[in-house]
Amino acid sequence: MPKTRTKEFDAEAISHHYDLSNEFYNLFLCENMLYTCAYYREPEGCLDQAQRDKMDLVCRKLRLSPGEEYLDIGCGWGSLAIWAAKHYGVKATGVTLSREQAEWGQAWVRREGLGDRCQIHHMDYRDLPEGQTYRKISAIGIIEHIGIENYPSYFGRVRDRLRGGGLFLNHGITHEKYWKRSSQTDFLEKLVFPNGEIDNITHILDVMEQERWEVLDVESLRLHYARTCHQWYENFENNAELLKEIVGERTYRVYRLWLVCSAECFYAGYLGLYQVLAQKHEITREHGLPSTREDIYIPFLKGGA
Ligand SMILES: C[S@@+](CC[C@H](N)C(=O)[O-])C[C@H]1O[C@@H](n2cnc3c(N)ncnc32)[C@H](O)[C@@H]1O
Repeated sequence: MPKTRTKEFDAEAISHHYDLSNEFYNLFLCENMLYTCAYYREPEGCLDQAQRDKMDLVCRKLRLSPGEEYLDIGCGWGSLAIWAAKHYGVKATGVTLSREQAEWGQAWVRREGLGDRCQIHHMDYRDLPEGQTYRKISAIGIIEHIGIENYPSYFGRVRDRLRGGGLFLNHGITHEKYWKRSSQTDFLEKLVFPNGEIDNITHILDVMEQERWEVLDVESLRLHYARTCHQWYENFENNAELLKEIVGERTYRVYRLWLVCSAECFYAGYLGLYQVLAQKHEITREHGLPSTREDIYIPFLKGGA
C-alpha cells in the first residue's frame, strides 16, 4: 500500500507505537528510557551503563559545551536532552511527535530542576519555528520514520536549523540493500512501525552531500545494536507477565517477535547502525574541530563525564 506521508499520517504512526504506554516501555528499556542503540565499551557490558556511555559518546562527538543551544530531534522520553543539559551545561531543546513521551520528559525535567535549561516539546520537527537555529543538533533514531523519499527535505530542514560552524549528528538504522517490500516489512509496517522505512548508508550519505553537508565522521555500531536488542529482549522475557497485563497477549507477542528478529538481523548484518557527524558544507580553511578524535575518548579512559 503506498504511504501517504502527510504530517497527520506520521503523527498517527508515531502515536501507534510510542503512545502505547510509558509503563510498558519502562519495563524493558534502560533506566534512562533510551530506545536506540547503546554503546558497549565492554562487549559483555550492561544496558544501563552502555546507554549512559552512548549519551556521552553523542555529546562528545558534538563537542557540546556549556551555554550552547542544542536541539535533539526525535528526543524520545527526553533522556539525551536532559543528560546534555545536566552534564554538559547546554541549553537543550528536545522535540518528539509522541504526546506520552513529551509528558514523561517534561515531568522528568521538572523533577531534575532543569527547567531553565531544558525543554521538551510535543511537536513535529517540521514545525520548529522558522528562523530558530542551534549550535548543535542530534537526531537519534528518527530517520527510520522519515521516509526515504523525504530524506532530501529532512536533511535540508535540519541544515536550516543549524548555525554556521555547528555540528549535526545523525544516528540511525540502515538496511543492507535497497528497501523492498517483503513479509518482514509488511509485519513491521502493519503491526510495529506504520511509517518505518530504512535505507543503506551509501544513499544516506549521498543525500547528505547533495543537501550540502560535509560528512566528517561515520561510525558503525551494528553489533552494539544487536546486543541492545538482545538485552531489551531479556528484560522483556523477565517481565513477561507484567507486560502482558499492560498491553495484552497479542501486542506482547508482536513486540517479542520484533525484538528477537531485530537482534538476529543486526547480528547477521541485514541491518546496520551508523552515527554520522556532519557540518554544513562551507568554504573555510578550518572546521573548528580538534585534528583527531582523541578528545572524544580521553574522558572515557579517565572514567569521567
Ligand atoms: C526510536 S525513537 C528514539 C528516541 C530517542 N532519540 C532515543 O534515543 O531514545 C524515535 C523518536 O523519533 C520521534 N519522531 C519521529 N518522527 C518525528 C517527527 N516528525 N517529529 C518529531 N519527532 C519525531 C518519535 O516521537 C520518537 O521520539
